Amino acid sequence: MRIKPHRFPGVYIFVDEDGSERIATKNLVPGQKVYGERTIRSEGEEYRIWNPNRSKLGAAILKGLKNFPIKPGSRVLYLGVASGTTASHVSDIVGWKGGVFGVEFSPRVLRELVPLVEERRNLVPILGDATKPEEYRALVPEVDVIFEDVAQPTQAKILIDNAKAYLKPGGYGMLSVKSRSIDVTKEPEQVFREVEKELSTYFEVVEEISLEPYEKDHVLFVVRKP
Ligand SMILES: C[S@@+](CC[C@H](N)C(=O)[O-])C[C@H]1O[C@@H](n2cnc3c(N)ncnc32)[C@H](O)[C@@H]1O
Repeated sequence: MRIKPHRFPGVYIFVDEDGSERIATKNLVPGQKVYGERTIRSEGEEYRIWNPNRSKLGAAILKGLKNFPIKPGSRVLYLGVASGTTASHVSDIVGWKGGVFGVEFSPRVLRELVPLVEERRNLVPILGDATKPEEYRALVPEVDVIFEDVAQPTQAKILIDNAKAYLKPGGYGMLSVKSRSIDVTKEPEQVFREVEKELSTYFEVVEEISLEPYEKDHVLFVVRKP
């Protein structure tokens, strides 16, 4: 059993006793579990195994994502933070010098995040509607990355509007798209091409990666603001 660095700074590879490999992040708040994930100790540090079946970003990394703009020290606007499963790993990666601003419009879901952030102070929960970026103007600074996972038909527009308000020039957007959330009647491939076309009206589309078999009919787009 051992831990080795992944090629993305802040991400680790855990090699289990049977030789199988998983991804992990170094726990920013040792002793804190967020979604029942397995934790392991190695050389005095605690790591949290990142479950790709619970996190689209984790799935994308395991699928061989090439561009991962979230780094130690990054400031990330996270749209659709829910109860913090993926955002907690992002919080581990960006560390105390970075910050994660997590927007969620369901008070019930956001309430589950509140006990976590008492200690995980680089993760800021924001009750707000991602379709109205001006609502959280007082709480969000200029950011390096926007990650969006809201499962809404207007996802691409939401990313563009938030990027206009908060993303630095040269910053990156990451958008998880579930074709059925956009249009159940269309073939997934057609939906993905339409989203790509809309994204390219504002961004440079850098990468698109399928999340199968972890998530059916899902892709993750990585885009860059010129
Ligand atoms: C698929 S879940 C997010 C899961 C989370 N990204 C993770 O991996 O841990 C989508 C979340 O987006 C939230 N959501 C949907 N539309 C939203 C909007 N317009 N503004 C803010 N949150 C929204 C939903 O309430 C839900 O909690």
